[in-house]
Amino acid sequence: MTRAQTARQVKAGIYEVGAMDRDRRLFDELIPLPDGTSYNAYLVQGSERTALLDTVDPPKIDLLFEHLEQLGVKDIDYVISHHAEQDHSGGIPALLERYPGAKVVTNAKGRAMLMDLLDLEEGVFVTVADGEKLGLGDKTLQFMELPWVHWPETMASYLTEDRILFSCDFFGAHLASSTLFAGEGRAVYEAAQRYYAEIMMPFRGQITKNLEKIKDLPIEIIAPSHGPIYDNPRFILEAYRDWVSDKVKNEVVLAYVSMHGSTKKMAEYLAEALIKRRITVKQFNLAELDLGKLAMGIVDAATLVMGVPTVLTGAHPRAAYAALVVNALRPKTKFVALIGSYGWAGKMVEELTGLFTRLKVELLEPVLARGYPREADFAALDRLADAVLAKHQEIGIAR
Ligand code: FEO
Repeated sequence: MTRAQTARQVKAGIYEVGAMDRDRRLFDELIPLPDGTSYNAYLVQGSERTALLDTVDPPKIDLLFEHLEQLGVKDIDYVISHHAEQDHSGGIPALLERYPGAKVVTNAKGRAMLMDLLDLEEGVFVTVADGEKLGLGDKTLQFMELPWVHWPETMASYLTEDRILFSCDFFGAHLASSTLFAGEGRAVYEAAQRYYAEIMMPFRGQITKNLEKIKDLPIEIIAPSHGPIYDNPRFILEAYRDWVSDKVKNEVVLAYVSMHGSTKKMAEYLAEALIKRRITVKQFNLAELDLGKLAMGIVDAATLVMGVPTVLTGAHPRAAYAALVVNALRPKTKFVALIGSYGWAGKMVEELTGLFTRLKVELLEPVLARGYPREADFAALDRLADAVLAKHQEIGIAR
């Protein structure tokens, strides 16, 4: 089934009525969107009442209205707000103007946030608790609180008769795909992994609990609020179980920036030394950083090595920026090492490691070269490669 900018039927009485945003290239003015994104909203028409599950980012609200018109929707009884972030909730005020009889259904935390963020009156809300059901006639929505995917108030709806989990951000992918259903393609897997890495990874522990909470639910379809719909839920559930598990891979993410080639030489030498020791190396030049690629790299790499030249007396700001991002994403990385060239003196190591306040990592011996690296520096890099291998062997991921 292709997915143009038109309402699309998911199943009888259930439509995707949201909007694609093919041209958007940045989310939160931070996260790259190489493949655009979509803000999925779902219309569920029961025999007695109609619910709209989430809205769209405000600039796309006219598309949502157009889709509702295409389907001849005259009344909406409920707008279910799974998540207060504005890419899903931002269209609610305009929707309430157009459908003044609609009530906003959310949990207590969601209600408070929507009142703060959208200046909504308390009287427009129907507040629901975890596990509560909402009957639409021949269709029933059951609400499940799934906190921290992606904010503390987030919840999902389970449509019991059709066995569809409307999961909002959870299991989403920033992908403006022309295909409504995901299938099991590599492109969808990578977009979902990028989304997990950029948005979900800091909440790994909470996601594990949420996966446990939905594990016995008979789910035929997972319908997230970004990207394609999973008609084979096992595909995305297994991927998530793998990403959130404590398992790390025999991999090093080697992220470096170099001003005059010295730190680059060190990074390249170390990469070869690691590869000789049968360790997979994912190398990133921070001068052209795609945050998403770096985030994907650290989803399950055992070790992060940063190549950081000293600028004046401290860490190169591009490396510091990457370190701040890594710290915020809280990957399950176990070991960190710093390498880099300096001109006279400095506090690069103290500065960089001081940024890793939220990581539970063991710091390996740094390798610092004065100017261009020489024989003694290469020997130190060989020792670092040995140390990485030994650590990977200790935790049973390398031979
Ligand atoms: Fe897609 Fe957290 O909003």
